Amino acid sequence: MIGFKPPLALRAETPPAWAEAALADPAALLSDHAHNEKKAALNALNLSQSCADSPRASVLLARLAEEELNHYRRVLEALLGFGWPLQPDRGNAYAKALHGLAAKGLLDRLLIAALIEARSCERLWLLGQAGSSHLELGSAPWLAFLLELERCEAGHALSYRSLAGERFGQEAEARLDWWLDREAEVILALPWRSAVH
Ligand SMILES: [Fe+2]
Ligand SMILES: [Fe+2]
Repeated sequence: MIGFKPPLALRAETPPAWAEAALADPAALLSDHAHNEKKAALNALNLSQSCADSPRASVLLARLAEEELNHYRRVLEALLGFGWPLQPDRGNAYAKALHGLAAKGLLDRLLIAALIEARSCERLWLLGQAGSSHLELGSAPWLAFLLELERCEAGHALSYRSLAGERFGQEAEARLDWWLDREAEVILALPWRSAVH
């Protein structure tokens, strides 16, 4: 993937052909993404509850929740603009599989959040690349929107990683190393569909 380095040095690269498969049903893709942005906002709020003893972490997590809520609203507005209804939540097998492997409480919750953000960032970038050749989604506002989300998600991945490091020190980097292998296994095992994961 020339010109793109995902945050956290993910260990399984998504092939560019994935984006064409994901764009097969743009209405489903965008609906799924709306649900994911809402879950990201709720997750940031839940984490802020768990980090309430740290004023710095609380502020950072409140900011993250605010940004995800803003993304949620904007994806809903994009759906409205295209005249596409918000479809029922099909669930996120990727996030579910990662949480199924968690064993270290808050540390794993922070690292899983970082990994999901990093993978979203990689895939939004791929969608942005493929979108330029996709007739219905090829409009400049749509591409600009995806690329803006991608930059935000990269920042979120780094924020969650630094929060884990501040709270758990060396243990966080060792655990992240373990998680990077698990995340690669999980993402490679999942079928492609019209969704970011
Ligand atoms: Fe987001
Ligand atoms: Fe995010």
